[in-house]
Amino acid sequence: MLNLKIEDKNPNIKQELKEYMEGKRSVLNQILEGETDYKDSLGWFHTAEWADVEQTERIQKLADEIREEADVFVIVGVGGSNNAARSVIEAIQTDRKVEIVYAGHTLSPYALNQMLKSLEGKSVYIDCIAKNFETLEPGASFRILRKFLYERYGEQAGKRMIATGTRGSSLEKLCKKHGYTFLEFPQNVGGRFSAVTSVGLLPMAVAGIDMKSLVRGAADMEKQLHKGGSEENPAYEYACLRNMYYEKGYKLEMLAGFEPQLRWFYKWWVQLFGETEGKENKGLFPVAAEFCEELHAVGQYIQDGAPLMFETFLDVQEQNASLYAEQDRVEDGFDYLNGKDFWDMNKASFHATVKAHREKLPCLILEIEKLDAYHFGQLFYFFLFACYVSARILEVNPFDQPGVEAYKKWMFEALGK
Ligand code: PA5
Repeated sequence: MLNLKIEDKNPNIKQELKEYMEGKRSVLNQILEGETDYKDSLGWFHTAEWADVEQTERIQKLADEIREEADVFVIVGVGGSNNAARSVIEAIQTDRKVEIVYAGHTLSPYALNQMLKSLEGKSVYIDCIAKNFETLEPGASFRILRKFLYERYGEQAGKRMIATGTRGSSLEKLCKKHGYTFLEFPQNVGGRFSAVTSVGLLPMAVAGIDMKSLVRGAADMEKQLHKGGSEENPAYEYACLRNMYYEKGYKLEMLAGFEPQLRWFYKWWVQLFGETEGKENKGLFPVAAEFCEELHAVGQYIQDGAPLMFETFLDVQEQNASLYAEQDRVEDGFDYLNGKDFWDMNKASFHATVKAHREKLPCLILEIEKLDAYHFGQLFYFFLFACYVSARILEVNPFDQPGVEAYKKWMFEALGK
């Protein structure tokens, strides 16, 4: 399970948190009882609604068929439609039988040409993931990839296309008309909340991730967080801490960690909190930092700059690799490292960073046992739940994104839609 620790030089922080949690208890109660206001967006709240045994079997079967035939699987999607799958695929070592390539998240011709080039000489399958199939970026990529597949495979191309969209969407109609495989994007789940549905699970399974184990992790976390008591609810505690710090004047939350494996998970997290909370001139701005590298970039600002932020560290507990710095004949001034494991050096760097930063800003530490599929499932559910609670405490609608729609309007106008 996940463990949340607070490193804050304010000696009263635990008492303040206890009172804050008591004060917001009614928000948690409403959520656990099932809110009617948001019932059309809560399809992710019970993991089994879109990831029960039957559905995961069906997804796994489709993934196995693709794995038999494909060298490359292209995920066409943007934001919530690809971030969750990517964050797991890029983090977990698998058999790498099928290479995963990404499209639909950029309009850069340079990047798209590179993507098409990477498909040359390989057996290609694609999954176009788009909730209502109006977003331009995935739509444009799907177009060039369809052309590519028809040119390569003729009428057989349709068998190599999967489309994940909502029932009744134009994407479903395209599937019916042209014989693509259709997978349901749940109508009652927004993109950024769709990690543990067909949206995230099919690409993960094609990549060789044990997605059933990920679903179990999410379901176990759900069980823990849905128990009544707010004291044993680390997601509620985290949601309260975020709001407390926001009310104290902090404007940013920085998610940080020392495992580069988490790079894409940070992106998922940034979208989740940014799009969910940044409304009505409110909300913490979510940023992420990959340490050690960024200790030598933003580290200076964190330590001595304007006191804008608090930090949340993801700390992986179980050692997953070892590499020793052997004694070296060259006198390089690093002899103090002789015989030391990089795992321990990385941990020393983490502890030293927290020690230094806590003098300036509050630090939260979220301990994760290890980075496997099961624990990714836990992490997804933990943050989804926490984000929902946090937005409700902030008193914004967690499930819309009117600001994103505004930029789309101007883009459609510029391109003559
Ligand atoms: O979280 C959201 O709902 C959005 O950010 C979507 O994920 C993103 O806009 C992609 O939308 P669509 O799947 O409709 O292309």
